[in-house]
Amino acid sequence: MIILDSGRVIDPAQKIDGTRTVLIDGERIAAVREQAATPAEKLVHQVIDCRGKWILPGLVDLHVHLREPGEEGKETIATGSRAAAAGGVTTIVAMPNTKPVCDSAAVARFVAARGREAGFAHVLPAGAITRGSLGEQLADMAELKDAGCVCVTDDGRPVMSAGVMRRALEYARDLDLPVMVHAEDLSLAAGGCMNEGPVATRLGLPGAPAAAEVAMVQRDILLAELTGARLHVAHVSAAGSVRAIREAKGRGVRVTAEATPHHFTLTDEAVAGAPASVGPEKGEPYDTHAKMNPPLRAESDRQAIVGALNDGIIDAIATDHAPHGPLEKNVEFVHAANGVTGLETSLALTLALVRNGELPLNRAVERLTAGPARAFGLNAGTLAPGATADVIVLDAEREWKVDPQRFHSRSRNSPFARWTLRGKVLRTFMAGKLVHQE
Ligand code: DOR
Ligand code: ZN
Repeated sequence: MIILDSGRVIDPAQKIDGTRTVLIDGERIAAVREQAATPAEKLVHQVIDCRGKWILPGLVDLHVHLREPGEEGKETIATGSRAAAAGGVTTIVAMPNTKPVCDSAAVARFVAARGREAGFAHVLPAGAITRGSLGEQLADMAELKDAGCVCVTDDGRPVMSAGVMRRALEYARDLDLPVMVHAEDLSLAAGGCMNEGPVATRLGLPGAPAAAEVAMVQRDILLAELTGARLHVAHVSAAGSVRAIREAKGRGVRVTAEATPHHFTLTDEAVAGAPASVGPEKGEPYDTHAKMNPPLRAESDRQAIVGALNDGIIDAIATDHAPHGPLEKNVEFVHAANGVTGLETSLALTLALVRNGELPLNRAVERLTAGPARAFGLNAGTLAPGATADVIVLDAEREWKVDPQRFHSRSRNSPFARWTLRGKVLRTFMAGKLVHQE
């Protein structure tokens, strides 16, 4: 037995926020109790003093790019899940835009097996909606589900044909699989490399309007309503998307949503070096580490996302961890790859939102744990007795400077390099096993 003694336990699923002692027996949580570890227990069990520390359920991240198979130079299932463990993330949903695309049981089984072998996190594969994620023919979703996929998505690109999307939603509905959508109307976004607006104009970069996302969110909500399928909107970036999701939830449409730490922390000013950030290296006109899809938007969009995290219209914080190398990033802005790493900074960036007074702590933790678990129906995100012992111990006050060279991830593309953050994971347990120690 491992006993985490007298820490501040925050487990929104059980409505706990107070001093508790957590007992881990093998792979499971045995108990969460008020009584501290007894002298007798200290003789026979491994007791870890957690006084002054926080104890949370391991985080659940619904949106992670692991790059294996195919681009192991950027990330592997082992390095990505190791990065997850360092960030306190114990469950990750692996996006299917690998090479080859995860549109078959063979690839899905490979991803799940590699995840188990690595042993740092629960790695759950996501399957493609369409073959090769080309948006044309449906993938064999029954086979994908059978191989362990917890959702289907063509993330990285939209399903442009509404007809194909309708059939996909019908198929997924019958299998009870959530359909995660990358909402982007390519005909509106075409050519844009950042948010359309004053900053793009100032920088002389072509923009993509928020409407490119909002129009597709609205379309997919209509189709979810038509089919009765479970829709999950990935990486919400625009106030208009929040409005559409709020309205749909109000009418009982089965829709859930996620937002990323970069979208709730930064605005498109970060492309040029936002006042809040340390900015790009001296002498550079822009920062390709602030380039991702969907792009960083306006402050009003950021505030809408924070508001939706607050009231639960956005169910989950997900990183969209998207590793890229210098070859893809140290180039002209228009040619740079989209994506930022996120697994090792998401918790501290979420706590920053709490410290700014923008999001209450219990809600923040809920959106990192029970919220995402509920959205995908996963058995995770709580310290309830009998649950898998995915647990993190953190020092909420510990200041640290983000140094991407020290990331466990194989890639260093973070817009938060050189930021000073507060909150560091000291220990991560995955199914009762210590997978990270600071
Ligand atoms: O920023 C992004 N990175 N957005 C995407 O849609 C794809 C992802 C990636 O795979 O790099
Ligand atoms: Zn993604």
